[in-house]
Amino acid sequence: MLNKKSKPNKVKKVKTGVSGLDTLLGGGIPEGHTVLVSGGAGCGKTTFLCQYLNEGLKNGETCLFITLEESKKQISEDAAQFGWDFEKYEKQKKLYLKQYNPFELSGDLSLNSFEHYIEYIKATRVVIDPISLFAAFVAHEGIESVPGEYGIRRGLFFVIDRLRKANTTTMMSTEIVEGQGGKLSRYGAEEFVADGSIVLSVYESLDTRKIGVRKMRGIKHTLKSFEMEIKKDGIAVKL
Ligand SMILES: Nc1ncnc2c1ncn2[C@@H]1O[C@H](COP(=O)(O)OP(=O)(O)O)[C@@H](O)[C@H]1O
Ligand SMILES: [Mg+2]
Repeated sequence: MLNKKSKPNKVKKVKTGVSGLDTLLGGGIPEGHTVLVSGGAGCGKTTFLCQYLNEGLKNGETCLFITLEESKKQISEDAAQFGWDFEKYEKQKKLYLKQYNPFELSGDLSLNSFEHYIEYIKATRVVIDPISLFAAFVAHEGIESVPGEYGIRRGLFFVIDRLRKANTTTMMSTEIVEGQGGKLSRYGAEEFVADGSIVLSVYESLDTRKIGVRKMRGIKHTLKSFEMEIKKDGIAVKL
């Protein structure tokens, strides 16, 4: 007989650490999801990703930050501004901060080494900032010297597939470029491959920022956008 108290379909949630957003998501992101965080320059994507990792680090989780636009030092400095001590967690081998230079595609990363690395550190949370450059980096292997759109999509599928197999909960940023016909990502493929999509935006005329959940597999959520603020201790959403 079914025990009334048991909830067999209850998915385990991973808190983003962004107050208000976790409420909107009924507790957080479903464990194992790969979520896209999109927005134009300065919308708060990197801050959001740092806050998400810090939430895990506070709880003793092992986390991986893959950065392609900013240096490791810049990321640690960004985080420190909000009181998040990434250097301490790196020393404790709880945070692995890896930097790749997208203009030096012959770096140390290959499809195999990425797979092995993910397996080796057993991170529960991974962030990639931004995924478009990382996919280009991964795609380089074995195909063409400068990957075209096909190569980048192939890299993207590869990365997401490996992260899924490793059962990590991942956030990856992507830039929304104006005049791209409403695409939510750099290549227009990322939002379809991802399990979820969170959109950040700024309204200069109103001097406000907004955040909305556009897609989140397995969760019933509102499509409304909410005002958000970047405060001294990070992003907060006004519900
Ligand atoms: N310590 C801080 N306190 C308040 N706002 C900040 C702080 N640091 C950055 N910001 C705001 O966040 C913006 C950049 O956020 P960032 O996460 O780097 O955006 P993105 O990665 O989307 O380009 C800055 O332009 C600034 O408005
Ligand atoms: Mg950024």
